[in-house]
Order: sequence, then C-alpha cells, then structure tokens
Amino acid sequence: MAKDWTPSSWRSMPIEQVPDYPDPNALAETEKRLASFPPLVFAGEARKLTRALGEVAEGRAFLLQGGDCAESFAEHGADNIRDFFRAFLQMAVVLTFAASQPVVKIGRIGGQFAKPRSSGSETKDGKTLPSYRGDIINGIEFDEASRIPNPERQVMAYRQSAATMNLLRAFAQGGYANLDNVHQWMLGFVADSPEAERYRQLADRISETMNFMRAIGIDAESHPSLRETDFFTSHEALLLGYEEAFTRVDSTSGDWYATSGHMIWIGDRTRQEDHAHVEFCRGIKNPIGLKCGPSMEADGLLRLIDKLNPENKAGRLTLITRFGHEKVEAHLPKLIRAVEKEGRKVVWSCDPMHGNTITLNHYKTRPFDRILAEVQGFFDVHRAEGTHAGGIHIEMTGKDVTECTGGARPVLAEDLSDRYHTHCDPRLNANQALELAFLVAELLKKDQAANAPKQAANF
Ligand code: PEP
Ligand code: CO
Repeated sequence: MAKDWTPSSWRSMPIEQVPDYPDPNALAETEKRLASFPPLVFAGEARKLTRALGEVAEGRAFLLQGGDCAESFAEHGADNIRDFFRAFLQMAVVLTFAASQPVVKIGRIGGQFAKPRSSGSETKDGKTLPSYRGDIINGIEFDEASRIPNPERQVMAYRQSAATMNLLRAFAQGGYANLDNVHQWMLGFVADSPEAERYRQLADRISETMNFMRAIGIDAESHPSLRETDFFTSHEALLLGYEEAFTRVDSTSGDWYATSGHMIWIGDRTRQEDHAHVEFCRGIKNPIGLKCGPSMEADGLLRLIDKLNPENKAGRLTLITRFGHEKVEAHLPKLIRAVEKEGRKVVWSCDPMHGNTITLNHYKTRPFDRILAEVQGFFDVHRAEGTHAGGIHIEMTGKDVTECTGGARPVLAEDLSDRYHTHCDPRLNANQALELAFLVAELLKKDQAANAPKQAANF
C-alpha cells in the first residue's frame, strides 16, 4: 500500500478547483451517505483494464477514450447513451482493423460530471456569478441560486451514473455490440459520407474479412467475443470528497480502489505534485490518467510518474497529452525522451480537443482540421521517436450536434447556434467522430507500413 496514504490524506494538502459549499455540515452528511452506497465498478474490472492498458503501453494495443466533456442531468436518457455507444463502437471497429490490434474502449461516461474552470466567476451582461462547475456541483442556469454548490447533486450524479452504467453493461454484454451490427452501422455511415470514396476501401476490406470469417464458421453464434465487448468507464477525479466516499478496500487483494469508475484521471489544472489530487490518486490501484498540457516539463513529469507509478507497472499510468495543434511537435518529444531514458512504462494518448478551443460567434468551438492536425503531429512525433502512439482521447457525442466546426459535411461558424447542446466544451458529433476514426486509421496504416521492414529484418 502507498506509504502514509489514506483515502482522506488529500484533505491536509493544498487543493485547486474546490467548490465553495455554503454548508460544510450538509456536505459532510452527504459524503457519509455516499460512502454507504454500492460501488459502481469492481476492483477486478479495474485490474482487467490495467492489464489491457498494459498491452497498450507495450505497443500491442490501441486506446480509444471518449465521451461528453461534461455529462448533464438534462441530457440523461437511453437514446443519448445508445447513440454515443453506437458511434463509439463503430470508431473502435475501424481502429481495430486499421491497427490490427485490440482496441481498449473507455468512455468518458458514468461519472464525468465535475469540471475544472479557468476562472472562478463568469460575467454576462454586466452580472458576475460563480462559474458553473458541472452538474455534480451546481447548475448551469445563469442565476444566483443555481450557481450555489449543492451536495444533493452528488447523490443525483451517483444515481445517474448507476443507471448509465447499467445500460452500458447491458449494451456491451447483451448482443447490441454484436460485430455484425456495428459493421452494418459503419457501412451506413460510409455510404452517406461525402468522403465515401476515401473511406470505402477500408470499409470494403472489413466487409471482406467478415465474409471470410463467416464462411469458415466464425460467427456471433459460435463466438461470444463477436457479440460482446469490454467497455470501461472513466472521469476526471476532480471532486475528491465524492471520490473518497467511493474509495473502498477490495476484499481479494486488500488494496484501495476508486469504485466510482474504472479509470480516473488528473486534469491539467490539478496536477501539482504536492497537492491534493495527486495525493488521492497515488493511493488507489485503478489505472490513472494524467493530462499533460504545454506547461508540463520533463523533470516535473518524471517526479509525477515516480509518485503515481512507483512500481513502474505497465497500464497503471496513461499520459494524455493536450498541447494544441501548433505546439505538439515542440512539446511532446522532450517528454517522450525523458520517459524513454528513464525506462518508464506509460501509455501515450493524444487529447486533440483541449488545446484547440477557439471562440467563434460567441461560441466556444474547435475546428475539425486542428483536431486532426494535433493527432497527426502526435503520430509523427511518435514515429520519429520510435515510440507507440498509443491512443486518442476525445470529446464526442452520438448526436448530430453543431459544436465543432468542419468535417466532411461541414459545420460552419453560422451553424453553431443550431444544435449547440454541450454543458461545457464543444464535442465532435457522431459523423465527425467517425470521420476522425477513419483518418486515424490512415495514420495507423502508415505506422504499420513504416514498421514492416523492421519486423521483416528481425527474422
Ligand atoms: C477535460 O478533459 O474535460 C479537461 C478539462 O481537460 P484538461 O484537464 O486537459 O484541461
Ligand atoms: Co472538456
């Protein structure tokens, strides 16, 4: 067990991004109630995810992580969850085929409610109020009462997460994730895309492979792996009182696990090495993510790795880099070199969203081209360094929203107001997300071509 650590040892450390609850007793009461509620995930599942991510760290698998920037109470419903899952699985199939590797599937879902903010307050029409911090903390409506942090919202967030989790488990194990279904949905996307010609080749090869498998008797009836999938949940571990309430001892191993989600991550604004969020995360055994923005330096990163993964276990730590399309080539190589030099085992994943946010017509948006450019830069740097571009981390929805500009069926600046539904940052819509998967597939194929002569030379 981590030295001098308890689920509450973070409480004596400096902390960023804490909501100002007006009634600390009510907050403590709620946290006590939450601590008696059933876990959302089990330690064995978190261990399974660590093993799967270990394969990514070793270069034998690829990670797809994505979902809402912020889940909301208002958007909670079966259709939204289904449509997200459907878009996400199609992306996963395309990437699996292109990488010729298993794709580890992790949603930003089932607990992704708390948001770090760059400013503690927000001003509109001359009126200043505390910032919205996510539905688990306060309300998005721009009035004084809504913006007061309310502990009851944590109970709501837990119950919503439990319902979401329940549906996801049914979808993942109950036949909905059947490869034939996903394949048919994907063909529908390609047929309707203005870029159909570009994507058809890959889609046709997937179809041929499926036909071949069927011909030799490998089908969903005889092979459960074709009708079920492993799907994991994740969120930013920002609201530590909530996280502490769901930190439980695993009876099998005697270790502490966060049971609020399979993987949790530390945000770019709360990764100070002697502060509360790093303290909390170092003591739990789940796989951990660490966001790395432009201010992350190599020596600071190595100290954080020492704290978060002292045993250098592959799969324990995922570095989620988010520099912006113009900065990735300047920032990523020095971090990779430091990690490689010290022999640290990490998963490298690219978040091409958070460094590419701009404002257009008063809307926060992200141009699709810049998102793609950061992913391309990420792959280029890894190819040059000889390391594994391990995955992508994106904000997306299964719905046809107009939040990010661009794409094959482009969302224009003037379209943003049509269906701008996000509670925080702009998400890729279903078509943009799938398109990104097809474009990442091209990058994966390029990597395979680059590696092929090396592999051949090993014989
Ligand atoms: C996020 O992932 O929603 C987020 C706030 O990211 P970051 O910490 O990288 O800014
Ligand atoms: Co975000």
